[in-house]
Amino acid sequence: MKCTRCKKTAAVALPRHNAGFCPECYGVFFSRQVEKAIKERELFSKEDKILIALSGGKDSLALARELQLLGYNIAGLHIDLAIPGSSVKARGHVERFCSDFGVDLHVLEMENEGMPIPEVRKKFNRPVCSVCGRIKRYYFNRFAMDNGFNVLATGHNLDDEAARLFSNVMRWDAAYLGAQGPDLPGDQGFVRKVKPLYRVSEFETANYSFLAKIDYCYAPCPYSKGASFTFYKSLLDELENEQPGRKLSFYEGFLNRGRQAFARIDQEDGEKLCPCPRCGYPTTGEICGICRIREIMHH
Ligand code: AMP
Ligand code: FES
Ligand code: ZN
Repeated sequence: MKCTRCKKTAAVALPRHNAGFCPECYGVFFSRQVEKAIKERELFSKEDKILIALSGGKDSLALARELQLLGYNIAGLHIDLAIPGSSVKARGHVERFCSDFGVDLHVLEMENEGMPIPEVRKKFNRPVCSVCGRIKRYYFNRFAMDNGFNVLATGHNLDDEAARLFSNVMRWDAAYLGAQGPDLPGDQGFVRKVKPLYRVSEFETANYSFLAKIDYCYAPCPYSKGASFTFYKSLLDELENEQPGRKLSFYEGFLNRGRQAFARIDQEDGEKLCPCPRCGYPTTGEICGICRIREIMHH
């Protein structure tokens, strides 16, 4: 196969784009997808101070590398979860990446916050992943707000977003559908949240990271049974094989035509947010979810 752009030998075939690219042109392709997402959804501009949540995996590191190459004002935030055998490795990948490519890095240690994930896991009967996700989102937002970042970017890709949408649709979860998207506006103590990789698949970010010589972490979290939405992802992959381009059109169709309907429902049902009396985080409850977790941890 020949490269669609320059006719050299192609290294990556992309059926949904009806194209193949050599390593160099692949970078151009990827870059255009990310730029298109940023422009079309008005995610951010060169004036914004962007904090990228870096897990050490292929997606968030690819995102940081690409935004850096595009000339955006970025810094990274890694949350060290203190999971034995896993967190040290993930953190190492993030630290090496940031020093190799010259990206400013901030690290928050959950051990220091009194919430190492193995301890949290012992205190809760349900799967720790949802609690852990909550803790991470809290610190992403809090760190951004406290340190003058006005945008928080995560490495969620098209597969993540389409599978989440599929799952929300299967449950017709109106509130979740109203709050899903790559461009969630900030307000009332919440920083703007963006997902600039929503147009590229997991396969495409893996390729990008490989070709960009990014040394990323492969190991999944030892506490999760695998990636989230695994079953929905495999169903969508089957659909994509039969109908190339379906995944993106499903997701974009929702953004362009479905989302507004649910946004209204979300607002009407929405409760008023007040600052948590202990930590100031916006909450609808008496104290926020994280202060409640803290309380449970100390009993
Ligand atoms: P995941 O839910 O593990 O697929 O992660 C989704 C996104 O959340 C990643 O692409 C990162 O941007 C961010 N993220 C996940 N874990 C961490 C972490 N420990 N520290 C910083 N960012 C993270
Ligand atoms: Fe949080 Fe696995 S990353 S429980
Ligand atoms: Zn609180």
